[in-house]
Amino acid sequence: MGNKVFLVALVVALVAAMLNNYLRSKSETRLIFHAEWYDPVSATVKKFHLSFFPRDKSVEMYDLRAHRLFLKRMVVHGVEERDLYPGNTVVILSRQLKITDFADASTRDLVTSSRQRTFAMIKPDAVPRLGEILDFIQSREFEITQMKMVRLNRKQAATFYKEHEGRPFFEGLLEYITSGSVVAMELTGRDAVRRWRRVLGPTDSGVAKQDAPDSVRAVFGTDKQANAAHGSDSDLSATREIEFFFPSSKIKDDLLPQTTAKLTNNTCCIIKPHAITAGHMGGILKAIKDEGFEVTALQMFRMDKVQAEEFLEVYKGVVAEYPGMVQQLMSGPCVAMEVISSHEDQTPTRFRELVGPTDPAVARELRPNSLRAKFGEDRVKNALHCSDLPEDGPLEVEYFFKILQ
Ligand code: RTP
Ligand code: MG
Repeated sequence: MGNKVFLVALVVALVAAMLNNYLRSKSETRLIFHAEWYDPVSATVKKFHLSFFPRDKSVEMYDLRAHRLFLKRMVVHGVEERDLYPGNTVVILSRQLKITDFADASTRDLVTSSRQRTFAMIKPDAVPRLGEILDFIQSREFEITQMKMVRLNRKQAATFYKEHEGRPFFEGLLEYITSGSVVAMELTGRDAVRRWRRVLGPTDSGVAKQDAPDSVRAVFGTDKQANAAHGSDSDLSATREIEFFFPSSKIKDDLLPQTTAKLTNNTCCIIKPHAITAGHMGGILKAIKDEGFEVTALQMFRMDKVQAEEFLEVYKGVVAEYPGMVQQLMSGPCVAMEVISSHEDQTPTRFRELVGPTDPAVARELRPNSLRAKFGEDRVKNALHCSDLPEDGPLEVEYFFKILQ
C-alpha cells in the first residue's frame, strides 16, 4: 500500500516537473536571428538560425542548409543581448558570425524598441573634453555604436544644416562648425532620440546652466552657438544625419566629411574591444590628454579576422598571445587613434611609456600610473595597442585612416 502511494506521488511529481519545464520553455524569451559564417575549409558561407535566451544568456545554432542542430543550447562567454542586432558580428566558439536579419517578428519588435538610434555630434569647442563627454554619455546608458572624428568643409556644413539656411545665425553657425574637428557618433539605446535631446539640455548653454545644470550643454557649453553638442530632433532626422556621416553605401566623396589624420610625426593607438565594453574609453582619453598628448584622428572600427590578422601580422610566430590578440581585436568594436605631441620625434617612445608594459600585472607593479596598469586585465586584454617602433606609427595610422577608409 505504502509503495503504491509512493509510486503515484513520484509519477505526479515527474509529470509536474515536465509540465513546468514545458511551460517555461514555451514562455521563455528567445531571440532569433539569421546569421552567417564563412567557413574557410569548405570556402562556403554557412547560414544559421542563431537563438539567444536572455534568461541564462545561452545560445543555440541551427544549420539551415544541413537542417540540423549545429550547436546545442549552451552558455557562450562574451555573448550579450546588446551585441545581437543585424549588422553586428559576434564570436561564438572562435567563429565570427555576422548577424544578417531578424528571424521572427517578436525578435524584431523587442530589439528595435531597445535599440533606437540617434545622431550626436561633439562640436569644435567641446572636442578637447571628449573623454569627459564619453563618460557622460555612457553613464546615461547610451551605447556608442559608431564614432568618427572629422572636419567639415563649408559645403558639407551647409548641407548638414540646410534646414537653417536663411536664418540670421546660419553664417555664424557654418563658421563655427567648420572651425575645427568634430566627433560624429551614432548612439543606441531605449528611446535614444528623445533621451539624448533631454540629456543635451536647452540650445543656449547660458539657459542650460540655469534650467538644466546637469545637462551636456550646461556642463560643456559656453553660449547659444558654442553649445558643445548636437542631437537629432526626430527619428527621421536621426536617420538622415547618421547616413550623412556613416553612409551605408558609397556616396560622392566631396559630400563625405573627411578624417582629420595628419599621417606624419604620430603614433597609433587602439582601444581594444574589451576596454570599450568595460566603459574605459572616456578614462583612457582623459589620461592621454592629461599627459600632454593630442588625439588628432579617431574612429571606431569593427575588424574582421582578415583585417585583425593583417594588422597584427608582425606578432605572428613571435608572440605567444598572437591568436588571442587576433580574437580580442575582432571580438567587437575597437577605436583607432592618431596621437601626436609637442615632443615631435619622441612621441612614439613617450607614448609607449604612458601605455606601459604589455602585461597589466607587471604594469601595476612597475608603472602603476600607466594606462595598462589602470585599464588592463591580462596580456591579451591589456586595454590598448600602441605602435612599437617610431617608424610603425605612420604606417599603422595610414592603415586605419587611409586604407580602411
Ligand atoms: P542642434 O541642432 O545643434 O542639436 O541644436 P538645437 O536643435 O538645440 O538648435 P537649432 O535651432 O537646431 O540650432 C542649430 C545650432 O545653431 C546654433 N545656433 N545659434 N546664435 C544663435 O542665435 C543660434 N541659434 C542656434 C547652435 O549651435 C545650435 O545648436
Ligand atoms: Mg537642431
